[in-house]
Amino acid sequence: MIQTLEWTDKGVRFIDQTKLPTEEIYVTCKTHEQVADVIRNMVVRGAPAIGVAAAMGIALGVDNSRAETVADLKRELDQICDIIGKTRPTAVNLFWAIRRMQEKFERVRIRPVAQIKRDMVEEAKRMHAEDIAANQAMGRHGATLMPSEGGVLTHCNAGALATAGYGTALGVIRAAVEQGKKIHVYADETRPFLQGSRLTAWELMKDGIPTTVISDNTAGAMMRQGKIGAIVVGADRIAANGDVANKIGTYTVAVLAKENGIPFYVAAPTSTVDLECPSGEKIPIEQRDAREVTHIAGKQMTPDGVSIENPAFDVTPAKYVTAIVTERGIARAPYGESLRALSEVDSPVKA
Ligand code: MRU
Repeated sequence: MIQTLEWTDKGVRFIDQTKLPTEEIYVTCKTHEQVADVIRNMVVRGAPAIGVAAAMGIALGVDNSRAETVADLKRELDQICDIIGKTRPTAVNLFWAIRRMQEKFERVRIRPVAQIKRDMVEEAKRMHAEDIAANQAMGRHGATLMPSEGGVLTHCNAGALATAGYGTALGVIRAAVEQGKKIHVYADETRPFLQGSRLTAWELMKDGIPTTVISDNTAGAMMRQGKIGAIVVGADRIAANGDVANKIGTYTVAVLAKENGIPFYVAAPTSTVDLECPSGEKIPIEQRDAREVTHIAGKQMTPDGVSIENPAFDVTPAKYVTAIVTERGIARAPYGESLRALSEVDSPVKA
């Protein structure tokens, strides 16, 4: 099984996703500042993995603290959360994880400092285990939506590498394949960071799931030729009305899916649903360094001085989304009602 990130005696260990697929290298962070850096630099990426990384970074910072009183430890916790919270703005899982760690602290603050530290580490480890269980539950729900055979398109990487394990969109595909469905995955390469060609293809090949990488420009033609029976993607934040922020290019895929009569599914844990965010326009979209667009593997692809825009995410309006698969069940339009109802259902994975 791919170990995207794990708590070890030496610190938090990450597979370095900037080096895949050609090198399988691991980095170990010993401080919360290092964890903030690996999130910002996309050594670890993907909304659920960012959430678990944030929790582990906070646990690491608390565990390293020299504070002798609970009040001093709480001050340090706030500083740590502030640093982690400034890494990437779009994936709401980051802020969900920070809030959950802060709530955990409040519940255990009557205990001695040494015990609080152990409790915070346990909470982060629990979030790691719960994320894997949530993905497996999502897979069970989502597999029912997959065709019994044929092409399934995905965009970006919403797999084991984007989560604590198993994946959201790729978890749905994995579960369908485990049930005997004969799925062939079409992976959009996903410029500019190439999560599809570098990461999705890498992890699906490891599992022996038939995969074809296509340039982003090819997706529409594949749909029109009847090669795609369904589309499944992940999400970085889902607004209360069902608008979905996901990797740049997702909107294009969703519109093409509607035009071609192909179901467009989103798979995401309920920690990605932001009921406080009324609609997609309110979702903050991260702008990343122009160099991700101007250069490929260190080689310049654009003339000096040309203007560049590099939004990391776009928003797909809810009207293009056929269904949203979560660990608690499947939501369908009207999402304002179905997402709220799901948030009240008991989670199948809460430890
Ligand atoms: O910029 P990234 O690589 O963190 O973006 C990742 C995505 O957009 C994923 O599709 C999303 O986080 C869902 S991952 C299960």
